[in-house]
Amino acid sequence: MEAKTPKESLTILTDLVLPGETNYLDNLFGGELLARMDRACSIAARRHSRQIVVTVSVNHVAFNRPIPVGSVVTLEAKVSRAFKSSMETYVDVWIEDRQSGSRTKVNEGIYNFVAVDEIGKPVTIPQIIPETELEKERFNGALVRKQLSLVLAGKLEADEATALKKMFK
Ligand SMILES: CC(C)(COP(=O)(O)OP(=O)(O)OC[C@H]1O[C@@H](n2cnc3c(N)ncnc32)[C@H](O)[C@@H]1OP(=O)(O)O)[C@@H](O)C(=O)NCCC(=O)NCCS
Repeated sequence: MEAKTPKESLTILTDLVLPGETNYLDNLFGGELLARMDRACSIAARRHSRQIVVTVSVNHVAFNRPIPVGSVVTLEAKVSRAFKSSMETYVDVWIEDRQSGSRTKVNEGIYNFVAVDEIGKPVTIPQIIPETELEKERFNGALVRKQLSLVLAGKLEADEATALKKMFK
């Protein structure tokens, strides 16, 4: 199976924040943003694997800045690392200034997916070769994040999380 690059999975979703999608402070409701992130990441995972994909875990979401009603929000998702059947996807969230069009990064998230067949059994996916500095940084950190996620899910003993343990030495 031929390796791919992160940019082959790039998924860009641009949408408005409407009043029905906000909280009491008229900012985008967190759960709505999580759903948009999941959607963008799942398309990236599908583009990378060309298989059915399911979300297996969410590693990290940072709600760094509120997103006011009326904002134009752009989500950019890419696969950062592929393992055997699972892959890590990174999503960056931007809003743009109405008048200047300049972009500000407001949030980011890391979602993990597994490629499965028609009966939900994991299948092997292509490996990934990072190209840019940011892609390499995210690729290099992905194994530690995967092990942390597995330990937290009770699927890996802390003693077996070798890459994770190295971080604390
Ligand atoms: C995802 C799913 C198919 C995995 O099944 P499983 O029996 O755990 O399969 P495996 O143990 O073989 O794990 C498959 C891969 O997922 C990875 N994985 C499992 N749990 C994980 C977690 N919490 N975080 C990160 N990766 C995880 C495993 O490490 C393995 O990766 P690899 O093949 O790249 O090495 C199964 O858990 C499932 O169907 N979950 C529900 C998914 C779902 O409905 N999502 C929400 C709606 S889309």
